[in-house]
Amino acid sequence: MAMDKVEIHKHDIVIVGAGGAGLRAALAASKEVNTAVVSEVLPTRSHTVSAQGGVAATLSNVEPDDWLWHMYDTVKGSDYLGDQDAIEFLCRMAPEIIIELEHMGMPFSRLENGKIYQRRFGGHTKEFGKEAVCRSCAAADRTGHAMVHTLYEQCLKNGVTFYNEFFALQILTNEGHVVGVLAWDIVNGGFHLFHTKATLFATGGYTRIYRTTTNAHINTGDGLALTMRAGFPVEDLEFVQFHPTGIYGVGNLISEAVRGEGGYLVNKDGERFMKRYAPTVWDLASRDVVSRAMAEEIRHGRGCGPKGDYILLKVDHLDPELIHERLPGIWELAYVFAHVDCTKEPIPVVPTAHYSMGGIPTNLHGEVVLGSMDSPESPVPGFYAAGECACASVHGANRLGTNSLLDILVFGKVGGEKAVEFCQSLPEHVPLPENAGKEGIDEVKRLVDSTGDEKMDAIWEELRDTMEANCGVFRTEETLSKQKKILENLCERFKRVRLDDKGKVFNLDLIETLELGHMLEFSKAIVEGALARTESRGAHYRDDFPERDDKNWLKHTLAYLNEDGRIRLDYKPVRLKPLTVPTFEPKERVY
Ligand code: FUM
Repeated sequence: MAMDKVEIHKHDIVIVGAGGAGLRAALAASKEVNTAVVSEVLPTRSHTVSAQGGVAATLSNVEPDDWLWHMYDTVKGSDYLGDQDAIEFLCRMAPEIIIELEHMGMPFSRLENGKIYQRRFGGHTKEFGKEAVCRSCAAADRTGHAMVHTLYEQCLKNGVTFYNEFFALQILTNEGHVVGVLAWDIVNGGFHLFHTKATLFATGGYTRIYRTTTNAHINTGDGLALTMRAGFPVEDLEFVQFHPTGIYGVGNLISEAVRGEGGYLVNKDGERFMKRYAPTVWDLASRDVVSRAMAEEIRHGRGCGPKGDYILLKVDHLDPELIHERLPGIWELAYVFAHVDCTKEPIPVVPTAHYSMGGIPTNLHGEVVLGSMDSPESPVPGFYAAGECACASVHGANRLGTNSLLDILVFGKVGGEKAVEFCQSLPEHVPLPENAGKEGIDEVKRLVDSTGDEKMDAIWEELRDTMEANCGVFRTEETLSKQKKILENLCERFKRVRLDDKGKVFNLDLIETLELGHMLEFSKAIVEGALARTESRGAHYRDDFPERDDKNWLKHTLAYLNEDGRIRLDYKPVRLKPLTVPTFEPKERVY
């Protein structure tokens, strides 16, 4: 394959990723400067479309609500690892960002009085934990789908240039500035170099490293690996969220909205076991609590089915009309993937890898930042990140449901605006470095020319199974040390990987192998961060250290990739001081 030609494109801002965060950023930027989006898929195929239950905002449409209660819930849900300035910013901005979206034409479900429909969701409460509150603004159970289509239409109207089905290969830097990105044209083959004043990563999550996952095939964490390869850290990767209700055997999401509408979980004895784990809010406790409770029930022989390895989610007591109106998507998913009509029988469910709380470190302006315990955070010129690939950190150790769609809207918009300010302050593009993109080009050439004896799919299978077994809902020093060795071995095998397809056009063998290389790299950061963190906090649960340890571990993990492929860990403080209100001090969690 002819590999030497590189096409160069010049834009003020390039956004990598066309989910909700990327599109919201593109919309903000395109009002001011020349803006392009580089996306691995058509934007309407991005993973945001699979978000179901809603987006949090204290609109008070159903009952009184307050941004401070939302902030309290988010800080508490984060197990106090969330940065409180960013959380305050997120919660205060929520109502305005939703109304803005409504005015763009987002087809929200409606209450009788015409206002946006809101439902209950895990961890969202009124009056600082008193009882569950209706805070999630929903378009039935297809909220992400409605959101992506609304934002995409607006981006087209605003003249955003889309490079669809392009795969990012390398971040380009020159003297500390990020000056663009190298990408591969999946459809036609060939290298494209995007020279920018500002680059914003909105590359999404990474839970395809697990066997049971809600995530789309594209969620392979590519943005994280490229960030690490460019010498920047990633933050808090050990915090991986397991959603309680994935369909047994396949992992697809059954929205928490089901429990928000009155559904509940039972064990093999028909017992509503959540009352023992979360006596106040039962099935609407935060996800880490519910997922662990389910896993405990299964571990102690109270799981359902012939192997006792799932839990039942009951909705058959609800009015079928309500299910068809408010939860049509989950009815269909349960029917297609679990072969049950959930208006008549319960859905078999298990915890499923869903969301990455960690990511590329940013401040509340969406600027990628460097920092450590001793040096304050400073932005990397020209580099921005938003959405699931970023870590603002508003979710800390555990995200509340519906706060992710809010996160992508708020930090997508703000990141886009901040990147515009930066572009306008730069008279010229910072020049490209000599040999720009060489590492990315060499990597593709090496893979295409490889003659090794290893196959990509075998390595990926082992990665998925062992991450699930050793670095899942429960972890110990023993399982994590074992996984560290397994990853070393898989990385060695990856050096000998061989492609079957040597062509240029739509070479998915190449793309999936590149993705696998990325996944192996950041998986090491997850496992080593988890091994070092000798406490349990949020979604990171160490059987051998079951308590939260604020004295030693109220800090963010930073993971760097050394040149020899090893991980170096560092730490930085949690930003505990909100913008205008007093700090929520860490306390025991009570449900
Ligand atoms: O359960 C859900 O609908 C998922 C929502 C979320 O992850 O925010």
